[in-house]
Amino acid sequence: MRKTSGTQNSMKLIFIASCLVLLTAALIFDFIWASSSFTYLSLVSNWSVHKAVRRIIPKTEEKIEIVKYNNRLARDELNATFADIPAPQLEWEEMPSAPVPRLDGAAIQIKNLLYVFAGYGSINHVHSHVDIYNFTDNTWSGSFPIPKEMANSHLGMASDGRYIYAVTGQYGPQCRGPTARCFVLDTETKQWQDLPTLPAPRYAPATQLWRGRLHVMGGSKENRYDPGLEHWSLAVKDGKALEKEWRSEIPIPRGGPHRSCVVVDDRLFVIGGQEGDFMAKPGSPIFKCSRRHEVQYGDVYMLDDEMKWKTLPPMPKPNSHIEFAWVVVNNSIIIVGGTTLKHPVTKKMVLVGEVFRFRLDKMEWSVIGRMPCRVKTTLVGFWDGWLYFTSGQRDRGPDDPSPRQVIGNMWRTKLKF
Ligand SMILES: *[C@@H]1O[C@H](CO)[C@@H](O)[C@H](O)[C@H]1NC(C)=O
Ligand SMILES: *[C@@H]1O[C@H](CO)[C@@H](O)[C@H](O)[C@H]1NC(C)=O
Ligand SMILES: *[C@@H]1O[C@H](CO)[C@@H](O)[C@H](O)[C@H]1NC(C)=O
Ligand SMILES: *[C@@H]1O[C@H](CO)[C@@H](O)[C@H](O)[C@H]1NC(C)=O
Repeated sequence: MRKTSGTQNSMKLIFIASCLVLLTAALIFDFIWASSSFTYLSLVSNWSVHKAVRRIIPKTEEKIEIVKYNNRLARDELNATFADIPAPQLEWEEMPSAPVPRLDGAAIQIKNLLYVFAGYGSINHVHSHVDIYNFTDNTWSGSFPIPKEMANSHLGMASDGRYIYAVTGQYGPQCRGPTARCFVLDTETKQWQDLPTLPAPRYAPATQLWRGRLHVMGGSKENRYDPGLEHWSLAVKDGKALEKEWRSEIPIPRGGPHRSCVVVDDRLFVIGGQEGDFMAKPGSPIFKCSRRHEVQYGDVYMLDDEMKWKTLPPMPKPNSHIEFAWVVVNNSIIIVGGTTLKHPVTKKMVLVGEVFRFRLDKMEWSVIGRMPCRVKTTLVGFWDGWLYFTSGQRDRGPDDPSPRQVIGNMWRTKLKF
């Protein structure tokens, strides 16, 4: 009697234990798979939909019906809220690919040269060099290293036409910590110099030169997630800091990383971005990236003479990962691609495939074309009437806007508006 019930109990225990092991294995697999590919197809994405699929072991026809229902749900919700915005087709020409694929790198155009900095090659590898694209003969024509202590991704960057200022950012692969170190590159001699360290490190802060000062604002704080509101500036001239320390400026109304920061006609614009980001998994020796809740937004803020933030019309859709995705052409800001709010049903990330235009005379947004595919963190240039973009992470195809591989491809289109 006792013995039987003991056996039953241990059978129960074994059963419960195996369930736990299976569940843990599934979660670990989900996690590894998701964070290693940068894309995310969570098993725990939307219980009410997915439970319906897993709970029952239905006949094949029922299964098909459920899948059809989920697909319909996904498509309709995408249509309603997150679909591609109707846009004219642009004719894209594929140009020579960058020597390496890169994500979350940085780029600055000086005359006919596009300097493309660092970035992730894959989640486990970051670059430590600069590649140069020559718009005159359309070749990748040279590369040189960045300083050993400089961040490899999530940099803030701005240029005066000769010197390139590179501030803070993430140091190393996966979701490693940030550095507050800042540097300046003389593009004529390819020499790097130190700049005063930022008061606190940031991930992908909005950065721009304005009225003789290097401005750095927003970004994510040290834990890679919390939006920073702080705004600092440093007087600089010809690649030299004129002050020993950064000065505090008026905080930005909304914090967070991955925004465009543009100065036109003596006004400073901060466009789009997000709150929240992937974080390092607690205790992970390799700082393994794990996905967290994040919200993209399309807010536009401007600073002018009054030194007070003004709110301008938002982008046509929330958009982030656009820090080097812009150019100024004929008094318009052009932004190429990005990433918007996650899919409401599948919870997958949704990349952006539109080319946006913000007319500064009317303060008005429009969509002026579609890209060859959706890409986030594009690196953009403009030369001789051609709009160029390279690098970033592209989508899975015309019908699936979730992210797939990191690319080095370069495209261009003749810009007309
Ligand atoms: C899951 O999807 C259903 C159906 O679209 C929706 O009503 C529900 O709000 C979603 N749940 C979550 C947690 O997003
Ligand atoms: C939007 O809905 C229409 C009609 O259901 C469908 O033909 C189209 O493919 C959908 N678009 C997307 C982006 O899913
Ligand atoms: C860019 O290409 C043009 C045309 O081949 C060449 O004259 C120029 O020297 C190149 N610039 C650099 C910096 O390589
Ligand atoms: C910008 O303005 C110039 C001069 O008016 C014009 O020739 C050019 O086509 C314009 N560029 C675009 C992209 O509209």
